[in-house]
Amino acid sequence: MRESLVRKSDVSASTPIIAVTQASLPDVLAGLGEAATGWCEVNDFTGKASTHQLVPGLNGSGAVVLFGVEESGLSHPFALGGLVKSLPAGDYSLADDFPDQEQAALGFALSAYKFERYVTPTSKARRLGVSDDVDLNRIGVILDGVQLARDLINTPANDMGPEDLAKAIEELFAANGGTGRVVVGEDLLTENFPMVHAVGRASSRPPRLADYSWGSEDAPKVTLVGKGVIFDTGGLNLKPGSSMALMKKDMGGAANVLGLASMIMAARLPVRLRVIVPCVENAVSGNSFRPGDILQSRKGLSVEIGNTDAEGRLVLGDALALADEESPELLIDMATLTGAARVALGPDLPPFYTDDDELAEDIGVMAEAATDPLWRMPLWQPYMKYLDSKIADINHINTTGAGFAGSVTAALFLSRFVENAHSWAHFDIFGWTPAEKPGKPSGGEAQGIRCLFDMITDRYPNK
Ligand code: BES
Ligand code: MN
Ligand code: ZN
Repeated sequence: MRESLVRKSDVSASTPIIAVTQASLPDVLAGLGEAATGWCEVNDFTGKASTHQLVPGLNGSGAVVLFGVEESGLSHPFALGGLVKSLPAGDYSLADDFPDQEQAALGFALSAYKFERYVTPTSKARRLGVSDDVDLNRIGVILDGVQLARDLINTPANDMGPEDLAKAIEELFAANGGTGRVVVGEDLLTENFPMVHAVGRASSRPPRLADYSWGSEDAPKVTLVGKGVIFDTGGLNLKPGSSMALMKKDMGGAANVLGLASMIMAARLPVRLRVIVPCVENAVSGNSFRPGDILQSRKGLSVEIGNTDAEGRLVLGDALALADEESPELLIDMATLTGAARVALGPDLPPFYTDDDELAEDIGVMAEAATDPLWRMPLWQPYMKYLDSKIADINHINTTGAGFAGSVTAALFLSRFVENAHSWAHFDIFGWTPAEKPGKPSGGEAQGIRCLFDMITDRYPNK
């Protein structure tokens, strides 16, 4: 992705991309000559927003791409992304007066992503030259984070087991000078992560908890927790095939916090960063945990199991309890936690939950500015009673039957494990783009982390 953006001055013989509106098209064509005018006519190109026309070099002039924009600028911030895969391979560059160049470049690069681990790359790359005032450094930091998140999600579970995921975390931190440790298998019991162990123990690939830190010890503590369920069969409450098909993406929360961590470290933000990821496979075996079991938790609450498919909140409960013990200034968790979140808001608009109104406000504003949509939902206390258990401190799901407010009750369950963090926000993400859109190729997706990077950069700026 990063390689798809270059300085205009560094590419020779690139095809310019010229912005046109329906109103300006005749003038632009007049400048390009009669042959170009005729070419656009036979191709029925009218300059409509987000459409484009490649015009070959005619009468000795070079080829150009005409790209439709609104009078006010791009029709969608990432509109230029729609162009990437329909252009022939080669070098392009934005004309000097092309509007919203930074967004256009980001949209182009986000769309240029391809997951190529298992295929021989077929087509040559498309590159975009941008002018000197576009901050390619900052965009590159963001693109690398997004790429990491997408690659991790797209990697199938046979090559992304608990150990592989933990290794990815170790590698990212090692590359940036961070340190940490991984608690594996039976050690999860002696080190008091009973719910991580219970969820992950049925897999032949042992569960583990990765805990890594980076940055100055006395900088403000920013802690990220991600759901790292490398595959979710549902456990004994087995998912039907159609619901299980995409469950390699159930480590999407972990992938996203790693993408965000990558941005924070690359930008060298003045924070003490900590990433905690429970890495488990929710599998079926003779030693699977069961509906009706009562688990102990790190926090000390006993938890009655209503459904083994609600595994994410269990591993997160122990991870959040650990994070909370050192009272971080900001605690963020991300998880592909509920189908209910997608029912409520669809795949492209993840809900987030926090009791910190100022934080929610900041996130809302920055989500919009970054074209990284997020929507606040409530930690609605009256629904906490849905989690009552007769025989344990708490049930982890709503057992009242109707399945009301599934994403809210999951968030409320998590809130029971957070007490000391100054601010806590939980993101119930989908982590996947079902159908391609500008800036969003189909497959694993980063959600919320470009917004969160902006928010954290704003709160903890480099001096
Ligand atoms: N990983 C799933 C949630 C999920 C499903 C996210 C589909 C995105 C797409 C989670 O572990 C799960 O299975 N949740 C259950 C909870 C229920 C049993 C209370 C759900 O949402 O159905
Ligand atoms: Mn599940
Ligand atoms: Zn899950």
